[in-house]
Amino acid sequence: MSGPDRYTVIGHPIAHSKSPQIHALFAAQTGQNIAYDATDIPPEHLATRFTEFFSRGGAGLNVTVPHKQHVLPLVDELSARAELAGAVNTVVRLKSGRLLGDNTDGIGLVTDMVQNHGAELKHARILILGAGGATRGIVPALQMLKPQRLVIGNRDAGKAVELAKEFDAEGNLSGCGYADLTSKAYDIIIHATSAGLKGSVPQFPDGVIGTDSFCYDLSYNNVDTPFITKAKSLKCKNSYDGLGMLVEQAAAAFELWRGIKPDTQGVIAVLRKKHPAV
Ligand code: ATR
Repeated sequence: MSGPDRYTVIGHPIAHSKSPQIHALFAAQTGQNIAYDATDIPPEHLATRFTEFFSRGGAGLNVTVPHKQHVLPLVDELSARAELAGAVNTVVRLKSGRLLGDNTDGIGLVTDMVQNHGAELKHARILILGAGGATRGIVPALQMLKPQRLVIGNRDAGKAVELAKEFDAEGNLSGCGYADLTSKAYDIIIHATSAGLKGSVPQFPDGVIGTDSFCYDLSYNNVDTPFITKAKSLKCKNSYDGLGMLVEQAAAAFELWRGIKPDTQGVIAVLRKKHPAV
């Protein structure tokens, strides 16, 4: 009798990943026979351990920090959205045995913002704070919803300008330093820096957040993140952390692997009980 299909999430560190719990909940809900665990892989062992996982029959995996860009040369083909983002968060072993690198981060964010929280992206003025790998992963999905303007603000202005140039097919994207941001409130502000890990918030002008702005932090915690705290201190009425995005990107990966879309609401509620913020 064959055992469950094996999946894993690779990253470094990985101990605190919620992905095994999320996929176990999806599997129970949909009656899929899978085993999903977490694998810590230091960067220097990425290629060997990645290949080993699939040569031992692994069916698919998720990729998190710091491997999302380094997995690109290890897969046989890339989806258009992974290629655009220059990053892979999901690998699927196709029936042919070939490995497909895909990226569900952008669709995970957009689904959480639009379907779960009612954000209006079309014609919106959007500000993304940060110009690292997280921003790269979400810009293509945001562009598809035709915002009026997309601005990338970053501590290192040059990085924001470069990233904006790379993605500016619609002619509505620009990059700048925080000091160059005008203080007119944006409709949507997405926090995508790693400053929160050190308990801080990027030094952007307060005026970019208005009371009616929609603020979204890609990170989450069991207490308000520093960015959510800042948004609330500026009297912003709509601020959300990235727990929903985490569950939605996982659901999109699960559907790629198993061909069945799990319900996300119950899973978000279970995780939210453990992370009662917001
Ligand atoms: P990645 O490997 O994904 O690019 P990173 O190098 O940690 O991740 O950077 C992610 C983002 O967080 C970058 O936009 C970085 O700003 P810089 O490009 O100016 O370095 C931002 N970041 C990290 N710490 C920060 C801090 N304390 N204040 C503001 N931005 C910060």
